[in-house]
Amino acid sequence: MASRIPQSFIDELVSRVDIVEVIDERVPLKKAGRDYMACCPFHEEKSASFSVSQTKQFYYCFGCGAHGTAIGFLMDYAHLEFTEVIHELAQRSGMTVPREAVADDERTQTADLFELLERASHFFQKQLRDHNDATVAVDYLKSRGLSGETAAHFGLGFAPPGWDGLLKSLGTDLELRQALLRAGLTIEKGQDASYDRFRNRIVFPIRDRRGRVVGFGARALGDDTPKYLNSPETPVFHKGQELYGYFEARKATRQLDSLFVVEGYMDVVALTQFGITNAVATLGTAATADHISRLFRTTPNVIFCFDGDSAGRRAAWRAAQNLLPLFRDGWLASFMFLPEGEDPDSLVRSRGKIGFEELAREAISLSTFLFEHLSAEVDLSNLEGRARLFELARPMLTQLTEAPAFANLARKQLQQLSGMDGSELSRLLPQGGRAPRRTVARRPNGPGSPSLVRKAITYLLHHPELGSLIGSTDQLSNLDHAGTTLLVALLELTKSSPTLTTGAIIERFRTHDEGRHLAKLVVESSPVLDEGLEQEFIDTIGKLGEMVEEQRFEALAAKAKLGPLSSEDEREFKQLVSRPRERTSGG
Ligand code: GTP
Ligand code: MN
Repeated sequence: MASRIPQSFIDELVSRVDIVEVIDERVPLKKAGRDYMACCPFHEEKSASFSVSQTKQFYYCFGCGAHGTAIGFLMDYAHLEFTEVIHELAQRSGMTVPREAVADDERTQTADLFELLERASHFFQKQLRDHNDATVAVDYLKSRGLSGETAAHFGLGFAPPGWDGLLKSLGTDLELRQALLRAGLTIEKGQDASYDRFRNRIVFPIRDRRGRVVGFGARALGDDTPKYLNSPETPVFHKGQELYGYFEARKATRQLDSLFVVEGYMDVVALTQFGITNAVATLGTAATADHISRLFRTTPNVIFCFDGDSAGRRAAWRAAQNLLPLFRDGWLASFMFLPEGEDPDSLVRSRGKIGFEELAREAISLSTFLFEHLSAEVDLSNLEGRARLFELARPMLTQLTEAPAFANLARKQLQQLSGMDGSELSRLLPQGGRAPRRTVARRPNGPGSPSLVRKAITYLLHHPELGSLIGSTDQLSNLDHAGTTLLVALLELTKSSPTLTTGAIIERFRTHDEGRHLAKLVVESSPVLDEGLEQEFIDTIGKLGEMVEEQRFEALAAKAKLGPLSSEDEREFKQLVSRPRERTSGG
C-alpha cells in the first residue's frame, strides 16, 4: 500500500513537538537564560556547550558543532530513520500517522510495483524448485557451496531460459504488462511487445530497508556476459540508495555493533552462511552519500572491505573520498584489505568465520588509510616530498567540516609527517569547520559580507515572521542568482505559514536540493530581531528587485546590439531606461 507521509502531517507534528521535551528525556537540560544547556551527547565534554532553543526549535553544540531539529536529534541520537522518528513522535503526541490519499496516481502505481516485484520474486523462487532446467541452477549454487537454507533466507530464485516465462505468468493483461515494464522486469520491443529482462540466471531479490523487494541482481550461471545484470532505475529502485543484505542484517541483529560493507552479492550471502550476518553490499557502485549516512545511522562502526589488488585499493580510496565531507566525530570507519586474489566469499570459505574476523581486526582506520595512501605517493625523505604531502592532504582536511575533533587530530598528524611547524600549518590550512561562536552577520555590504540572497535567507530562517512583510515574489523569481529559487520558496512558505519555527522550516527543506544546508546557515549567523532588522530585510528584498531590473536591462541592451528588438521588448526596454535607478548599486 502507498505510504508516503503527507507534508501537512509532518508540519503539524513538528509544530506540536517541543524539542526541549524530546531532548530533556534523553539528555537532562538546564535552563540558562532564554535557552537550555547540557553536556553534549555527541562528543565527550566536562562543561556544558550543548544548547537548545525553544523558540527556534533547534539545538546547537558550541563544542563540536552538532546541530539540528527534534527530528534530526532523534535520528542521530537514537540511530533512527526519518520515518521511524515520525512514528515515534506521532505516538507520543497521540497522533496517528496518515497515509497519502490513494487518489494520488503515482503513489498507487508505486504500491502496485511493490506488489508486482514481490510476486516476481515468488515466481523466481518457484522456478528454482520446479522448473525443468532448474537442476543446472541448483547445481551451480551447490558448486558454490551454498546451502538450501541460505538460498531460502535470501529468497534466491531462478529466471528460466526463454523469453517470456515471467511475462506469461504475471503479464496477464495490458495493465500488468505495462507495470512489468515499469518495474524493470521486462524490456520493450515495439508496440505492446516485450520480453523478460532476466533469463537463465540466478536472481537475488534486493529489498529496501523495510523488506520490500525493489529490484533484482541476476547472475549468469556460467561464464556468460555480463556476469551480473541489475534492475534498471525504476520509480522504486535507486541503485545509489539500496544496500544488498541490509534488511536481512537488521533482521538478524536488532542493535548492530558494526557493519561490513563488501562488494558482491555472493560475498554477503556467503558471509551470512558462515555466521557473519552483519554484511551488506553496494550494487556494483562505490558507496554513495546516501549509503554512508544510512550505514552510520545504523551503527557507529563500519568496516569497508576491499580486495587487496590495485583495483581494490582504488575503490577504497574512492570510498574514503566520499566519506570525508560527511564524516562526523564519533564515527568509526575502517578499511579491510583481503589477500590478493581473495574476496570475502572465498576467504570465509577457506578460513571460516574466525579467519575472517581475524583479518577484520587488522582493518586500518580512515586516518591511517588516508595518510598511508598519500605518504606512499610522495618521498617523505626530502622537503619537496613533504611539501607535496601537505598539498595532497590539504583539500581532504578542509572537507572534514562535520568532524572538528577528527579534523584537528588529522592536522596534528599531518604536521608530524610533513615536519611543518604548527603556526605555519595554521596559516596555510586555516582551522576549518564551523565557527566556534555564533558570529553576528548584521551589517550589510561590508567587504566580504554574504550576498544579498544569502542574507535574506538567513534573516528569514531566524525570523520566519519576516516573510509576511513581503508582497509578491513574482519579480524576485526572475532573478538570475544562486539561491534565488530557495529564497522564493522560503518566502512563499513563510508568507503562507507565518508561525513556523526555524526548526520546522529546516525540516521542510530536508530533501530540497538547495535547502539541505539551511541548518548550517542558522548556526553560522544569529541576527537579533529589532526594528532595524525588519527595515533591513525589506530593503534587502527591494535591492534584489532592483537587481532583477538591472539584469533585464542588460539582457535587453545586449539583444538590441544584435538586431532590432521586438515591440514588446522595446516597450520594456524604454520603461527600464526611464526608471530612476542607482547604476552603481547591486549585490
Ligand atoms: P561472483 O563472481 O559470483 O563471486 O560474484 P561477486 O558477487 O563476487 O561479484 P564481483 O566481485 O565480481 O563483483 C562485485 C559486484 O559488482 C557484483 O556483486 C555486482 O553488483 C557488480 N558486478 C560485477 N560484475 C558485473 C557486471 O557484469 N555487470 C553489472 N551491472 N554489475 C556487475
Ligand atoms: Mn566473488
